[in-house]
Amino acid sequence: MNKSVIIQGSARPKGDTNTIVNYMALKGGFDVIDLYSKNIGHYDYEYKNTNDDFIEIMTSIIKNYDTIIFATPVYWYTMSGHIKVFFDRISDLIRIHKALGRKLRGKNIAMISTSNSNDLVRGFNMPFVESANYLGMNYLGDIHTWVENNYIPNEVKNIINDFIENKLNT
Ligand SMILES: Cc1cc2nc3c(=O)[nH]c(=O)nc-3n(C[C@H](O)[C@H](O)[C@H](O)COP(=O)(O)O)c2cc1C
Repeated sequence: MNKSVIIQGSARPKGDTNTIVNYMALKGGFDVIDLYSKNIGHYDYEYKNTNDDFIEIMTSIIKNYDTIIFATPVYWYTMSGHIKVFFDRISDLIRIHKALGRKLRGKNIAMISTSNSNDLVRGFNMPFVESANYLGMNYLGDIHTWVENNYIPNEVKNIINDFIENKLNT
């Protein structure tokens, strides 16, 4: 079986995205990396942030996992800033850490979005699909999840369970 890691990209460590991530991690046996606890600077053309946590995290992800599951809250109709900055920094792997970047090829990407209702806008997944294509990675799919008053509705639990069974742990 593939080894998978969830990259949690919320602006709070114990919010709704984390509620979903905890449920998924327990169900699917996935590891979790919370970007909120990491020091990852914006992409910089002069690579001024090269000594922050990004390269160490990517090195560990590439070494230990076949599947990367991005877990993002919906902020202003798109992915969170934490996840966007993480994607921007993948440019470091294309420009200066090329050997590391090449090792992304053939790995898998999936995406989980979270908000407070079943209201995801069309096209939300496009940057994830296109980034996977560009990087030569396989896109396994995505689901939208929602949390109501800190609880995961049964409907959402079923969506998550199906996704784990049919797309992630195959
Ligand atoms: C900055 C910000 C922007 C948001 N924008 C949207 C949005 O565009 N659409 C939506 O449905 N919910 C939006 N929300 C609500 C969040 O998606 C929702 O509360 C989510 O469950 C929060 O997850 P979190 O606790 O991990 O941050 C926004 C919340 C914040 C803080």
